[in-house]
Amino acid sequence: MAIWNGRVLNLCILWLLVSIVLLNGIDCHSRKKKLPKPCRNLVLYFHDIIYNGKNAGNATSTLVAAPQGANLTIMTGNYHFGDLAVFDDPITVDNNLHSPPVGRAQGFYFYDMKNTFSAWLGFTFVLNSTDYKGTITFGGADPILAKYRDISVVGGTGDFLMARGIATIDTDAYEGDVYFRLRVNITLYECY
Ligand SMILES: *[C@@H]1O[C@H](CO)[C@@H](O)[C@H](O)[C@H]1NC(C)=O
Ligand SMILES: *[C@@H]1O[C@H](CO)[C@@H](O)[C@H](O)[C@H]1NC(C)=O
Ligand SMILES: *[C@@H]1O[C@H](CO)[C@@H](O)[C@H](O)[C@H]1NC(C)=O
Ligand SMILES: *[C@@H]1O[C@H](CO)[C@@H](O)[C@H](O)[C@H]1NC(C)=O
Repeated sequence: MAIWNGRVLNLCILWLLVSIVLLNGIDCHSRKKKLPKPCRNLVLYFHDIIYNGKNAGNATSTLVAAPQGANLTIMTGNYHFGDLAVFDDPITVDNNLHSPPVGRAQGFYFYDMKNTFSAWLGFTFVLNSTDYKGTITFGGADPILAKYRDISVVGGTGDFLMARGIATIDTDAYEGDVYFRLRVNITLYECY
C-alpha cells in the first residue's frame, strides 16, 4: 500500500512538472517581445523628377519597364500598373529641391496594383555629408494614396551600421507624373 501511494505521488509530481513546462511553452509563444526605445531619429526628403522625353538634363528617374505596347516616356493608365522606374534622387534636409544635397536615394519602384495607386519601393540612401556618412537601405509596400506609409529599414553601413527600424514616408509634394517629393521619417530601433 505504501509503495502504491508513493507511485501515485510520483506520477502526480511528474504530471505537475509536465503541465508547468507545457503551460510555460504556450505562454512563451503568446508573449510579445518588448520593442526597445528608438535609438535614432532623422527626417530627410528626396526629390524624384521623372524623365518625360524632354527633361533629360534634370530628370532623376526613368521608366525602364512598362507593360507591352506602353510608351516608356509616359506612365501607363490603369494606375500605372506594371511600370518600373529606376531613380538616383537628391536627398535634402529640408523640402527645397535646390538645397545642397546630403546624399542620393538610389533604387527603384514599380506600380503593382490594377485597381488603385500602389507601388513597391526598394532603395538605399547613400549619405556623404558632414552630418551623415553611410548608407540606409529601405524596402516595402507603398500604398501611395495613404497619407503615411511605413516601410522597413532593413540595414545600413557606416554611421548606420546594421540599422533596423521603420521609415514613415509621406508625399510632401506631387506635380503630375513629373515631380514628387517624399518626406522620410526614419526611426531606428537598432543602432551600433
Ligand atoms: C531644368 O530645370 C531648370 C529649372 O528648374 C530649367 O530652367 C531648365 O530648363 C531645365 N532643363 C531641362 C533640360 O529640362
Ligand atoms: C511616346 O509618346 C511621346 C509623346 O506622345 C511621343 O513623342 C513618342 O514618340 C512616343 N514614343 C514611342 C516610342 O512611341
Ligand atoms: C564623400 O565626400 C568626400 C568629400 O566631398 C569625398 O572626398 C569622398 O570621396 C566621398 N565619399 C563617397 C563614398 O562618395
Ligand atoms: C517621426 O516619427 C516618430 C515616431 O513615429 C514620431 O515620434 C516623430 O514625431 C516623427 N517626427 C516628425 C518630425 O514627424
